[in-house]
Amino acid sequence: MYLEAFQQQLLPGHAADRSHRLDYASRFERWDDRAGVRRKPRRSYEAGGGPGLGLFFPPELYPVALHPLVAARGETTVHRLLLQRLYDYLAFTTELESVAVIPVAIKISRSRSGLPLPEHMQADAFKIVTDEAWHAQFSDDFARQVAAETGCASQNLAGTPPAFLPRLDELRDRLPAHVRGVESLLFAIVSETLISGILAGIPRDGRLPQSVREVVRDHAEDEGRHHVYFRSMLRHLWSGLTPRERRAIGPLVPSVIYAFLEPDYARAADHLAAAGLSAPESDQVIAESWPSAATQAEVAEAASPLVRYLQEAGVFEDARTHEAFESSGLLDAGPSSRSIVADGAPLLCTPKEFTR
Ligand SMILES: [Fe+2]
Ligand SMILES: [Fe+2]
Repeated sequence: MYLEAFQQQLLPGHAADRSHRLDYASRFERWDDRAGVRRKPRRSYEAGGGPGLGLFFPPELYPVALHPLVAARGETTVHRLLLQRLYDYLAFTTELESVAVIPVAIKISRSRSGLPLPEHMQADAFKIVTDEAWHAQFSDDFARQVAAETGCASQNLAGTPPAFLPRLDELRDRLPAHVRGVESLLFAIVSETLISGILAGIPRDGRLPQSVREVVRDHAEDEGRHHVYFRSMLRHLWSGLTPRERRAIGPLVPSVIYAFLEPDYARAADHLAAAGLSAPESDQVIAESWPSAATQAEVAEAASPLVRYLQEAGVFEDARTHEAFESSGLLDAGPSSRSIVADGAPLLCTPKEFTR
């Protein structure tokens, strides 16, 4: 088992047999001066002095909190729901880092991606591992502090996994055996190129507690570097794949994007039930808060920087892949009235800051 874990690659086959490229511009040269883990303090949550819980999460980013059936139950219900959304966001971050990003970055750093990557690109992956462990740790730590201060714990005490995990399992089962494993690298590329945009708005939201904004800002600053790294990783991955592999993988990329960005409906239903809504009321709130056409448009908008990188990497040269993107609505990005936050968690999206 241990030897197998050591030898396991993200992509099967001999890396040296794959075509490789040398281009890579590191954004980690001054990592020791810039990384949050080196330079930022532990953030302490302190309750504000005002009455009630206050806002812990922007309600516009969690539309169920704005639904009339929820609003009718009063401000306390809305605020409790938004506190739960903050817990979901923090738990999502911790699980994303520990289950999805760190294992992939570790493999890259130990030359077991299965791709022939430049040496310093592999070395930089180790810095990403350290960054992500810090993000996982401070998100978990902050959630514990908020629970202790508010006396209102996360309702997900059973530790139900975030929706992206079963979605990825389902997707892995659909991949042909000769490329199985690549979904982990693809998901890292998707989440790492989109999360920076997702994190961009919250630090500027003056309605939220200062420490919540600082925790998100600390994360966003590191993710700007990761974004550039994984954009480059996409180019290396796609040029390293054989045409047969590209044809097998390409049509499934939209599902990887949706696995990350689509709202976690089951988690929202749990929160609505805890807020006292009946099952039919909860179904109605979810259906009306995330109508499928509007949600598809929001996912397309949130994914638009990545869609541009996929185009640059030549992913759409395969007709079936192009078709899959078209039918999933991902080529229709236009300005959306609302933003989406990945848990599948759309947060405010201003990705241009990171896509220059
Ligand atoms: Fe992170
Ligand atoms: Fe990251």
